[in-house]
Amino acid sequence: MVAIGKKKLAVLVSGSGSNLEALINAVNDGIITNAEISLVISSKPDVLALKRAENAGIPALCVKSDGQILEKLREYDIDLILLAGYMKILTPTLIEAYKDRILNIHPSLLPAFGGKGMYGMRVHEAVIQAGAPVSGCTVHVVTEEIDAGPILGQTEVPVIAEDTPESLAARVSKQEHILYPKTVQEFVTKIVD
Ligand code: GRF
Repeated sequence: MVAIGKKKLAVLVSGSGSNLEALINAVNDGIITNAEISLVISSKPDVLALKRAENAGIPALCVKSDGQILEKLREYDIDLILLAGYMKILTPTLIEAYKDRILNIHPSLLPAFGGKGMYGMRVHEAVIQAGAPVSGCTVHVVTEEIDAGPILGQTEVPVIAEDTPESLAARVSKQEHILYPKTVQEFVTKIVD
């Protein structure tokens, strides 16, 4: 049963879904209290993220076009979209339909190491290459400009001399799993319909 007043979240994924798992756990553990995950949409079939959603009993679909995504979001009465490792660029139509209601998590301290082509391991490679002493993660509102919407929360992590892109990615990922649920809870608490 849907508790009255709870916001309905759709999480969009394309891969492993560790952030999805953190969000699911946060709902179960009472860290996110004002929302529930009603739908998971993947741009790719057979990814671990879909399995994680199914294991949690959440409707999980592979949907390719933004038009079909919009149909599903409406069918499930979705209030807020969370991008969690979603590898496609959203169309302006979808962004406009959910204006200020789409969040993303990015594995750097934006505006540093963001923008077109900055995703996955490429981000951590660039951070190490640049000799940056700190990196981290950012939760932001999605606008048409890639990785440039208003920042809602950030967590820093140190970059150490021995870091490889993989070791840095693991350190950042750990913090993403704390920051995203916390920021979502704060955000949904502020949404007034
Ligand atoms: C995370 O690093 C996130 O910042 C980025 O994509 C990655 C997704 O990882 N947007 P996962 O699929 O949640 O494990």
